[in-house]
Amino acid sequence: MIARNLIPLSIVFTIMTTNCSSNKDAGATHIAGSREFGKTPSGEIVELYTLKNAKGVEADISTYGGVVVSLKVPDRAGALGDIVLGFDDFNGYLKPPPYFGAIVGRYGNRIAHARFTLDGVEYKLAKNDGDNTLHGGTRGFDKVLWKAKPGSGQSLELTYPSKDGEEGYPGNLSVTVGYTLTDNNELKIDYAATTDKDTVLNLTNHSYFNLAGQGEGDILAHQLTLNADRYTPVDKGLIPTGELRNVAGTPFDFRQPHAIGERIGSNDEQIALGGGYDHNFILNRTGDGLSLAAKVTEAKSGRVLEVLTTEPAIQFYTGNFLDGTITGKGGKIYGRRSALCLETQHYPDSPNHPSFPSTELKPGAVYHTTTVFRFSTGS
Ligand code: GLA
Repeated sequence: MIARNLIPLSIVFTIMTTNCSSNKDAGATHIAGSREFGKTPSGEIVELYTLKNAKGVEADISTYGGVVVSLKVPDRAGALGDIVLGFDDFNGYLKPPPYFGAIVGRYGNRIAHARFTLDGVEYKLAKNDGDNTLHGGTRGFDKVLWKAKPGSGQSLELTYPSKDGEEGYPGNLSVTVGYTLTDNNELKIDYAATTDKDTVLNLTNHSYFNLAGQGEGDILAHQLTLNADRYTPVDKGLIPTGELRNVAGTPFDFRQPHAIGERIGSNDEQIALGGGYDHNFILNRTGDGLSLAAKVTEAKSGRVLEVLTTEPAIQFYTGNFLDGTITGKGGKIYGRRSALCLETQHYPDSPNHPSFPSTELKPGAVYHTTTVFRFSTGS
């Protein structure tokens, strides 16, 4: 849920950084360095920051789009492998986007007919996905340059001031996204924002995971558990119909672990509409804190990913639109379903569904959500 407390942003981030493990000893999590990653078409320098923890886990984060460019985590033998899709060369990120690793906003996922009404005013957005708007519009948060500041040596704080009217959304929005790599092999993402006018907001991260290693085949044998009794079925534009459907007895039931490929080819109308899984699952939650949303395991590497979030839902997307035309890091070809996304979020098209949890943010309130990607290994 959106936390609507009145804590100033500076305090939110002080809390965030003081909660992290100490950086006094050299081995602990720290920013190992930064380098120039490239230049935007208008000549601005894009930096790539490297976060490193005591166990050698590394995350590279770009100031363009706040992209998680690489994430190296150990397999069961301790060998580090990069488990997110992306590009070695910055220019890869300037092409039409699969949104690899990016911060997505202002509104992650879709808004039907690219419009919504707030306080009696209709706001028109970019139609960049058929008749709908997707992932913030033509130039969403995945395509802007964020300002980076090391947060207490243990996290990277990215800020972006989004202007009133940007991509059609109301309100001057001040956004801060904190990436923290903990010594428990967690990549923690804190999203915070304030506005000076009523607006809507739904921030997420669009990392594409393949626990066998990026470019190492498809993810159909990965086992997935989702802590969700219900999901939001969609129409042909992937817009929720408004129904909250039980997963029981359907290919959407991941309450017990299932291989992702087990039912992805089944004769199910919703699977057909998504071209696979591309659906919003409503998380079973108690309280407002971090709770376990998803768990993914990959047998060969032994790698395990757990996703914890304060958000009410998660988009499970199986990379159905990847088609082998993108060459990624290390020359790897990214074929269909070569990665999976677990985008923690509010429900798609919430501004047009008064019955869905609200995505409105008002002046004086602070948007603050947290998602943790926790890595470990199993048998
Ligand atoms: C999200 C959407 C998908 C697709 C990808 C990006 O996950 O739900 O339909 O647009 O982003 O390609």
